[in-house]
Amino acid sequence: MFSLTISFNLHPNQERIQNNIEMLATMVDQSKPGWTRRPFTSWYKEGRAWLKQQMEQAGLQVSIDAGGNLIGRLSGSEEHLKPIMIGSHTDTVTGGGRFDGIIGVIAGIEIARRLQETGTTLRHTLEIVDFTAEEPSEFGISTIGSRSMVGNLTAEMLERTDQTGLVLDEGIRMIGGNPDEIYETARKTGDVSLYLELHIEQGPVLEQNNMKLGVVTGIVGIHRYRVIVEGKPNHAGTTPMNMRFDALTGASELVLELENLCKFTYSDPVVGTVGKFTNEPNGANVIPGRVIFELEVRSIDSEIIENIMSSFSKYAALVAAKRQLDISLDNLSKSDSIRVLPDVQDKIAAACSATGKTQYLPSGAGHDANQLASIAPVGMIFVPSREGRSHCPEEWTDFAEVALGVEALARALINFDQDYIERR
Ligand code: GLV
Ligand code: MN
Ligand code: MN
Repeated sequence: MFSLTISFNLHPNQERIQNNIEMLATMVDQSKPGWTRRPFTSWYKEGRAWLKQQMEQAGLQVSIDAGGNLIGRLSGSEEHLKPIMIGSHTDTVTGGGRFDGIIGVIAGIEIARRLQETGTTLRHTLEIVDFTAEEPSEFGISTIGSRSMVGNLTAEMLERTDQTGLVLDEGIRMIGGNPDEIYETARKTGDVSLYLELHIEQGPVLEQNNMKLGVVTGIVGIHRYRVIVEGKPNHAGTTPMNMRFDALTGASELVLELENLCKFTYSDPVVGTVGKFTNEPNGANVIPGRVIFELEVRSIDSEIIENIMSSFSKYAALVAAKRQLDISLDNLSKSDSIRVLPDVQDKIAAACSATGKTQYLPSGAGHDANQLASIAPVGMIFVPSREGRSHCPEEWTDFAEVALGVEALARALINFDQDYIERR
């Protein structure tokens, strides 16, 4: 059985971490900008095959669960203890970077390697997870794998299709999952002792404060909607201004109202974005007949999100009446905000402070931890993002800073493994 070491002996191998991040960065869709590895594509499967080898070499027993999550497992010495899980994701947004999600999975594998190299056995079984499709997918949902793991991926979601006609159910089968078993195999409260995730901050706070590590205090909730604005396409030269049913001018009012609601209505932080937008038929001399866009609203306070969406939908009804348009709002997904338990924050802070300059901060980005929080205590560690850039090719964290994050994660893991009291 592992006994607490006086000198910390799980120092990660920075060069190996760098090589692994760089290796995954070669398995991307070269036709897209930046580093693009969308879920269910050949690049995703290639990355998964390589990760499986890395997990096996690190002494992990590898399997794929019903939701297509890739899981490497290392048995602990005390069978009655539920596993501690470390995870993140290796899918990217289109035109994304090399670090978002990826460092969390590589960190888990590196820690498994260091346990193997130092002959260390934990009390708890350790599970390292590459969660399926964390980023917003063409199915209008994010965190597909972690949703599925906690039984929060609905039958309706599994039936959704993307623009190529792929059904989510089939996509999950393509990567080795089995959606028929999602509900019976879903993990329940108490099945996981603790979930830990290392991630890049994706914002500017740590860098601005000259900090190396962040202890996450909570994670925003995210509500996403698809809005369809139906007008009437018509000739742009012959139709007088007062006889038009222009879908795009109506949609523009809605986009600006979302900004207005999120910017001026609340003093607490709330953000709203329209990041996906199509205009039909999209011709220079045709009055727009239909606009489809997707919006999201995020806040650490779910009630604020609900209030903003309620005001937004009332405003949409007014615009529809005023402009004689049909406007529909469909909820695509809701993930609840979470607060990290104070004692988990403090234990993580102790591990981080022993590693580098540390501060507490909330997460404006969503994570698989949002889903895992419904069945287990969760904790997250952030490392700095250069100039706060993320979801773009410029996303960058120095490898020495990633290695510090891995070290802090390893320390936190060992502390929890030693002291952790089953609480649920
Ligand atoms: C995930 O990266 C998100 O915050 O959307
Ligand atoms: Mn991420
Ligand atoms: Mn992301």
